[in-house]
Amino acid sequence: MKVLIFLDPILASELKLFLQRHQLPLGKDSKSGMTEMVASVGHSCEKSVDLLSQYMSYKVSGPCPDDWSLAQKLILRGCEPLARRRCLAKSIPKVGLHPFPNSLWKPVGNKTVNWSGLGCKNFECLKGKKLGRDCVACFDLVNGYENQRFVKATSKNDFLIDDVLSLGSGGIRIGFDIGGGSGTFGARMADRNVTVITSTLNIDAPFNEFVAARGLFPLFVSLDHRFPFYDNVFDLVHASSALDVGGKPEKLEFLMFDIDRILRAGGLFWLDNFYCANDEKKKVLTRLIERFGYKKLKWVVGEKVDSAGSGKSEVVLSAVLQKPVRVA
Ligand SMILES: *[C@@H]1O[C@H](CO)[C@@H](O)[C@H](O)[C@H]1NC(C)=O
Ligand SMILES: *[C@@H]1O[C@H](CO)[C@@H](O)[C@H](O)[C@H]1NC(C)=O
Ligand SMILES: *[C@@H]1O[C@H](CO)[C@@H](O)[C@H](O)[C@H]1NC(C)=O
Repeated sequence: MKVLIFLDPILASELKLFLQRHQLPLGKDSKSGMTEMVASVGHSCEKSVDLLSQYMSYKVSGPCPDDWSLAQKLILRGCEPLARRRCLAKSIPKVGLHPFPNSLWKPVGNKTVNWSGLGCKNFECLKGKKLGRDCVACFDLVNGYENQRFVKATSKNDFLIDDVLSLGSGGIRIGFDIGGGSGTFGARMADRNVTVITSTLNIDAPFNEFVAARGLFPLFVSLDHRFPFYDNVFDLVHASSALDVGGKPEKLEFLMFDIDRILRAGGLFWLDNFYCANDEKKKVLTRLIERFGYKKLKWVVGEKVDSAGSGKSEVVLSAVLQKPVRVA
């Protein structure tokens, strides 16, 4: 990547500068043994050098171009981490934020988002939308199903949050919600004094702004990125069909190993309504999960109509699994 970048005359000078090696001010670092700092961008950026170069073309110290969708496009192509820029991101006044914990369930004000370039121009418009399997009208915190999720079951595959918390014997304090949509899982957990980080992208809607306006912690990374957390830190990891990364089974395998890495021994992995498409896929997933040797505290296979996907009835798997203590 580096060689390629420096040889290419048409690349943005900011990109070259960012990737340059910088001498450490005090010479060799006694701890790391390094003499220079290397900034990096993701390996896959190589596939999108043209877009990356476009992203890095801006006026230094000036206002950043309004190009969050370009940044997201790069991230979705695996260009993560993305290069840093020396420009000022436009600020939004964020009018109408509510104090915590009222913020968790109050409708979010329209003025917390720059709607320019989005299909909707206010939250009213997003309310009825199906934006994915786990976001059917998920911006509507007042009517509909969103405010009942995790406290009211619509099928045997919906587990209730208090039941799952009781499986953790009071030890669930911090969690990570993968592909957490509008943040409702995090909000339910916040009601119970559990701190949850919600990973969410901004595909077709301002999910990150919404989660943040609710007073929750949004994390803007794709599922291809190694989770930016240390080993064995979370008491709980929650994931639903967002885990269905598509493509080769190895991809899901890498993801599962990373989930295992960040979960502490005794911690819970809650797989919530994972759509398996068919029985064969369920078998593959089951085999994969069983390799980790987790204790199956709950394991429910059912059928559900995928209202935001194929519209067909699919096999769904919900499970609560407890990570064992592994001694090498
Ligand atoms: C957002 O804008 C819509 C349309 O103008 C309006 O109906 C709605 O009440 C606004 N929401 C808030 C919270 O101000
Ligand atoms: C929203 O973004 C557009 C360009 O995408 C920009 O012209 C406008 O000033 C922005 N509005 C606010 C309030 O930042
Ligand atoms: C959450 O913490 C607050 C402050 O310590 C406490 O008053 C409240 O009862 C706790 N709520 C739950 C559900 O444990």
